[in-house]
Amino acid sequence: MKLLITGAAGFIGSNFVDFILEKYPEDKVVCLDKLTYAGNLENLARHRRDSRFQFVRGDICDRECVFALLEREQVDCIVNFAAESHVDRSLEDPGTFLRTNVQGVCVLLDGTNAFQIPRFHQISTDEVYGDLPLGQPNQKFSEDSPLRPSSPYSASKAAADLLSLSYFRSFGTPVTITRSSNNYGPRQFREKLIPRMIFRTMAGQPLPVYGDGQNVRDWLHVRDHCSAVDLVIRKGLPGSVYNVGGGTERSNLELVKLLLTLMGERESRISFVPDRKGHDRRYAISTEKIEQELGWRPVTDFSRGILETLQWYQAHSEQGGASRD
Ligand SMILES: NC(=O)c1ccc[n+]([C@@H]2O[C@H](COP(=O)([O-])OP(=O)(O)OC[C@H]3O[C@@H](n4cnc5c(N)ncnc54)[C@H](O)[C@@H]3O)[C@@H](O)[C@H]2O)c1
Repeated sequence: MKLLITGAAGFIGSNFVDFILEKYPEDKVVCLDKLTYAGNLENLARHRRDSRFQFVRGDICDRECVFALLEREQVDCIVNFAAESHVDRSLEDPGTFLRTNVQGVCVLLDGTNAFQIPRFHQISTDEVYGDLPLGQPNQKFSEDSPLRPSSPYSASKAAADLLSLSYFRSFGTPVTITRSSNNYGPRQFREKLIPRMIFRTMAGQPLPVYGDGQNVRDWLHVRDHCSAVDLVIRKGLPGSVYNVGGGTERSNLELVKLLLTLMGERESRISFVPDRKGHDRRYAISTEKIEQELGWRPVTDFSRGILETLQWYQAHSEQGGASRD
């Protein structure tokens, strides 16, 4: 299989490139990335000399660039990780999110049709469902739950999902979508919760926690996310959406306290700060569909995964440095 992986220089995209090249000796990958502030070519450095790997710097919104690439490379599948991905930034500059996360997806869908690519896979998020109240652990979103995004980020991702599904219905475009919960693992950009807290702890800075810290997220190891996407692009049904979750719910406060404990630091480092606008309370998704239809399960134990993640950031602190605030 030859895959076009967009957003490949980012956190999840670069882990997916590793996953494919390690698992499938016959596969080839063409990586397309604009290298925004969140993209880092170092994330792909280990593949530089692999003849199965190619990197192209480009914008998924640039129709000419995308179409020329698709014409030249004749890929079997597009996996779209390219996105503006940080909720806080979307509150400051929603327009940039609409451009990449919606218009960019439109270009990729048009390219899929124009060059009759056998599969377009859109990487989405559980945030498209909005949030759930605390204290009702049995409530979870399924793939059929209504979309009620809370932030410009999640609204742009929901729009991309709907656009993709409309292409399936209108043109028969072979689209699949995965909606995953919060990922953790190596190479996440330092603005996100886990690396941010680790680097601030290492720098002796206070650890800012939004509101009361009770907001709950489900954590999924990035490698488990990659195995789900791999399964869906090869065996998933066109026109289908699959939730992908780790089944590991933690409040932000619990998570920060765990990191402090693992780093041998005191909880007094935590400083509560005014809540994020529209901050979602709890995300939780049912993963029954992907488990039953495709036999996927997450395999990374959270305690082991988080410890390895911490150790990775400690060993790569030059990629983090001090936080931006
Ligand atoms: N990180 C998570 O926990 C999480 C959870 C669920 C879903 N997702 C989704 O997974 C995908 C990847 O997330 P991530 O955390 O790896 O993001 P990231 O911000 O680390 O990486 C995004 C990558 O996309 C590139 N990019 C941005 N705009 C582009 C454009 N116009 N053209 C080409 N490349 C562009 C960036 O340079 C970067 O390399 C996103 O679609 C995100 O919505 C992420």
